[in-house]
Amino acid sequence: MVSRRRVATSGDVEVSTYLEIAAEKRGEQLLPIKEPEPEAEREAVVVIDFGSQYSMLIARRVRECRVYSELVPYDAPWERVAPIRPKGFILSGGPASVYEPGAPLAPAYIYESHLPILGICYGMQAITHQLGGKVALGAKREYGHAILHLGAVDSPFFADLPPSLPVWMSHGDVIAEMPPGFTTLAHTENSPVAVMGNENGVFGLQFHPEVAHTPEGKTILKNFLYRVCGCKGNWTPANFIAESVAGIRERVAGGRVVGALSGGVDSAVVTTLIHQAVGDQLTCIFVNNGLLRREEAERTLNAFRHNLKMNIIYVDATQRFLDQLRGVVDPEEKRRLVGEEFIRVFEEEAAKIGQVDFLAQGTLYPDVIESATPQDRASAKIKTHHNVGGLPSKMKLSLLEPLRHLFKDEVREVGLALGLPEEMVWRQPFPGPGLAIRIIGEVTQEKLEILRAADWIVMNEIKKAQLYRQLWQSFAVLADVKTVGVMGDFRTYGYLVALRAVTSDDAMTADWARLPYDLLSRISNRIVNEVPGVNRVVYDISSKPPSTIEWE
Ligand code: XMP
Repeated sequence: MVSRRRVATSGDVEVSTYLEIAAEKRGEQLLPIKEPEPEAEREAVVVIDFGSQYSMLIARRVRECRVYSELVPYDAPWERVAPIRPKGFILSGGPASVYEPGAPLAPAYIYESHLPILGICYGMQAITHQLGGKVALGAKREYGHAILHLGAVDSPFFADLPPSLPVWMSHGDVIAEMPPGFTTLAHTENSPVAVMGNENGVFGLQFHPEVAHTPEGKTILKNFLYRVCGCKGNWTPANFIAESVAGIRERVAGGRVVGALSGGVDSAVVTTLIHQAVGDQLTCIFVNNGLLRREEAERTLNAFRHNLKMNIIYVDATQRFLDQLRGVVDPEEKRRLVGEEFIRVFEEEAAKIGQVDFLAQGTLYPDVIESATPQDRASAKIKTHHNVGGLPSKMKLSLLEPLRHLFKDEVREVGLALGLPEEMVWRQPFPGPGLAIRIIGEVTQEKLEILRAADWIVMNEIKKAQLYRQLWQSFAVLADVKTVGVMGDFRTYGYLVALRAVTSDDAMTADWARLPYDLLSRISNRIVNEVPGVNRVVYDISSKPPSTIEWE
């Protein structure tokens, strides 16, 4: 049964029963979290990854249809796939050509399973090649929009679709000859076989249903999942929580768990889930590195220690971090020092707890996929990102990573379903090294105070303008520059504050936000008038690339 604890929804908002409020907002009644039925059927579809840039997107789209999905490399053995208990397979696109020597092919078990299969682009070509058809280089590469004309409109695969629809193509190879038993279900001007299928629920699409440029793509995927694979869409945050809580309980048994609390959504969700599963067997360590935003530490402590009654060790290590950072101006050096000092403090505190068996980490699915796919997805290192996870390797703890199969938006959904305050669930990302990389040049107590005051104004004004959620990040940066100003009849010589506000889906690319002029003007006026030592404000209008989101 979910206990009804009391928590503050923010530092300055009245304390309230947040589980009830969150449920009420969603128009739901609070239900006790049920243990999963032992016999409950798990619905999953496995995406076989041939290295397309869209592979992860396919898994996301499937999950948006409330069917659990995992991405596995094309050479994954059956033992890796069997525990997922798939009800069907989707073969992704990929850069290879099936007729080239050594081209990746689908594992035999997908055909031997007799489960439904959907091949997308290269995936369709792999099916064709492996089941006795012929793939050849097309007369011309087809890239971009095309109109798909459905032939077999009575096929369940095409339910709820108009007879013609726009789709997105990106291929050079074509199906020259379908495998025995397959028929053409739809065509485009350049692809006579744009969709094919057989009686056993094996389908191939030459286009990409997963991308936004195929507006009906989700209906097509849904038809495959619901009408061909027979899924019902029961993968919901509440089911995830129930399954996850039961799994954590079983794994941890009587053991002890330690985790780092940072105030971010991932660590909040991880600790809440684990706390729900094993209660006081979990101890969280919250290291205040002195590089946090105003009131960040108090709010987090208030929410977790006082209201959720979690075991939290709070360490104010501000001075230790400032000592480390004295005289340091290089951004990567700042990151390294903050990361290392964090490990030291964390290990010291964890050692005081006594015997600990597990380390809780907020690893998310994109991190897992990046390190697991056969293709080299690693990109050149631009900045080292120190997160709290993965640090204390010396401690020889087993990892507890309940979010390792979730995407960020799913973590947020789970957070809301757990009843965490919206303010915490929708918090914008904040870098591990904190304000140290938003103060250009040496970090000092004085500069931290100035930046905190300016940042507070930015956050408040952005929230007041109801733009906080739409923006990926919005914050102030303290430049290592002083400029001349005039206040009253006096000359001033003060700091320059830069505003940074960006829109983005994943932080890989970002655009500067077109904030309204009057909002910019209000923020600028307030900072110059209310923050001593600052006499100029500029707005950063660079996108990423070529710039980055943070200034350091
Ligand atoms: P950049 O500046 O590389 O940032 O465009 C992309 C995203 O990563 C965050 N970021 C960090 N996060 N440790 C972190 O935990 C770091 O050292 C770090 N550097 C950047 C940044 O806030 C943005 O969301």
